[in-house]
Amino acid sequence: MMHEGHSTYTPKTGIGRWVDARMPLPRLVYNSFIAYPVPRNLNYFWAFGGILSVMLVAQILTGIVLAMHYTDDTGLAFDSVEKIMRDVNHGWLLRYLHSNGASFFFVAVYIHIFRGLYYGSYKAPRELLWILGCIIYLLMMATGFMGYVLPWGQMSFWGATVITGFFTAIPLVGDWIQQLLLGGFAVDNPTLNRFFALHYLLPFMIAGVVVLHVWALHVTGQNNPTGIEVKSKTDTVPFTPYATIKDAMGMVVFLLVYAYFVFYLPNYLGHPDNYTIANPLKTPAHIVPEWYFLPFYAILRAITFNIGPINSKLGGVLAMFGAIAVLFVVPWLDTSKVRSAVYRPWYKLFFWLFAADAILLGWLGSRPAEGSYVLMAQLATLFYFAFFLIVMPVLGLIETPRRLPNSITEAVLEKNKGSGSGHPAGATAAPETKG
Ligand code: HEM
Repeated sequence: MMHEGHSTYTPKTGIGRWVDARMPLPRLVYNSFIAYPVPRNLNYFWAFGGILSVMLVAQILTGIVLAMHYTDDTGLAFDSVEKIMRDVNHGWLLRYLHSNGASFFFVAVYIHIFRGLYYGSYKAPRELLWILGCIIYLLMMATGFMGYVLPWGQMSFWGATVITGFFTAIPLVGDWIQQLLLGGFAVDNPTLNRFFALHYLLPFMIAGVVVLHVWALHVTGQNNPTGIEVKSKTDTVPFTPYATIKDAMGMVVFLLVYAYFVFYLPNYLGHPDNYTIANPLKTPAHIVPEWYFLPFYAILRAITFNIGPINSKLGGVLAMFGAIAVLFVVPWLDTSKVRSAVYRPWYKLFFWLFAADAILLGWLGSRPAEGSYVLMAQLATLFYFAFFLIVMPVLGLIETPRRLPNSITEAVLEKNKGSGSGHPAGATAAPETKG
């Protein structure tokens, strides 16, 4: 099998051989993280899966210690967080690591997803790998949302009120679903209790799905910037030291930026209103979710009109969930035979337009839903769906891709010759011009 290409595992000690014959866990680790063959042309965007794994572990560890000092009671939650900030040893650090960690987890996952979209990593045979990723993303959103409610500030309370309110738009069962989420008729103590329980549980479910995700990855092997499958042994290098050292480098840079936020801008990504205790009698002027939900929030609010029997509220909720649901079917929407955007000039253009559109939606999500913002959000929403439902299927059929190299090895050699493999011209000339 392909993923055993470099395997040379031979336990050297008696104990090693004894374990290997009974439960070959060291062999699994060796084959997965040492001898595992990776395409030799992976760039730094392939470091983000590892970065995500580290962030997941960091969130779980800081979260467990925070939970030792946090109280999930509406009368005490806000003060227990202040106690963590002031009285618990390094409590401020734990909290800032955890709150900014959530943001950086999403930074990493967005880069990871856009990497997949750019290089066509979702295409056969990696559809299940992609779908497992989409499930992880959904679980991350649920976890992030419920975590934000725990400090019981104004945004916690009103965010929870708004989001759980969406569900009432669903015909027949909507009210029932909302009451199930809330544990009553409004956001209150039962809501906080169940959100805390689930916020503690979901990361472990994410960890479980990550295991499946990496399993699926190790069956198909990694995609790479050319999108061409591994064909021979010269196309790959062993994971250690090549990928380990590159991943470590990417991780250090990422963690430095994360640390910069934790130590110098710890509240930059948060909302000041969440330092005011929740007050059910005082609605904040603008209820804004965390930045990583903003594009979806913009899509939700873009539907200001009724569509036949669907009123605008239900339409908004459907559009918002549809925007996530469409990700699951991406492997079947993209009809192109060529995977990587490197060889697809038109797809590349639309990819960058889509990335700009997602950022625009994010910005619009942070603005009040009034005036020209509404029209802009409607156009941006239209483009969001058009990218998946029209551009992806149609472009795959009509676009003429550039000439593909025969193999990864050939692409690497071509690139080193600087003879135009679809990479920036003069890749080898750069050092000379700089020098
Ligand atoms: C906790 C979140 C996640 C973790 C820990 C994780 C972990 C990983 C790891 C370790 C890899 C291999 C290294 C790499 O290619 O970067 C990987 C690959 C991949 N992941 Fe994820 N992932 C997560 C979320 C997601 C999400 C949300 C998606 C998509 C919706 C996704 C889609 C993929 C795909 C398509 C690949 C294969 C990429 C390729 O080989 O080109 N992952 N993931």
